[in-house]
Amino acid sequence: MTKSGRRPLMAGNWKMNLNWREAHLLVQQLAARLNEQQLTDVEVVVLPPFVDLRSVQAAVEEGKLKIGYGSQDISQHAKGAYTGEIAGSMLTALGCTYAVMGHSERRQYHSESDEIVNAKVQAALASGLTPIMCVGEGLDIREAGNHVEYTVAQLDGGLKGLTAEQVEKVVVAYEPVWAIGTGKTATPEDAQEVIGALRKRLAELYPGGTADKVRILYGGSVKGSNAAGIMAKPDIDGALVGGAALDAEDFSKIVCFSEN
Ligand code: PGA
Repeated sequence: MTKSGRRPLMAGNWKMNLNWREAHLLVQQLAARLNEQQLTDVEVVVLPPFVDLRSVQAAVEEGKLKIGYGSQDISQHAKGAYTGEIAGSMLTALGCTYAVMGHSERRQYHSESDEIVNAKVQAALASGLTPIMCVGEGLDIREAGNHVEYTVAQLDGGLKGLTAEQVEKVVVAYEPVWAIGTGKTATPEDAQEVIGALRKRLAELYPGGTADKVRILYGGSVKGSNAAGIMAKPDIDGALVGGAALDAEDFSKIVCFSEN
């Protein structure tokens, strides 16, 4: 445990990559590179495409692996006539413990608004899943210098109506859109500036220690070579990793950031 008792979390967002066979193999390869102690010090989670969840579950159960898994999205609805959607209860039935919502790619290509993100956070909590709620600004907003207020407003919108007890269960991921998949990592100082502001906002909204319990991740071109610098910042509790999570060697280096 570090940073006020918040256990670091490294979550691999596989996006639309790997079929079920490849997914099974990657989980095994990842587990083979991490020992018991490393998987105790840091929580490791993979976020495969929906159709891979069953084989990831099989790999985890067969190997009794201390690796968690979850989905990249979740329906805001509990069940019914919502063609193509996946409900939280379907995810927990597969052993999922996490669900992502508000990823910038879903905000951009699927018009996921703060209202929808908020409904998805509530749906995840209602199903017993830990939400990983993404926020982050585009390049235009960063260049105009409005990144802090923009991401704080996304945080407010996404958490609307939640109790302090519920918010303590949420993981927030700050992912500046201009740093996703571009190789342009925000500097650790850039990430800390926004993540520190998000934590300060949580303290304002929920007085009484909630802000110290919420884990806030950084995401955007995180690799084995830059994870330690990012994790050295006081408010950053882990990473949401895209590209590097598809490589067992590099993702395991991220998990072992403290050894680098
Ligand atoms: P990246 O993606 O690590 O490939 O930049 C991060 C994300 O989109 O979650």
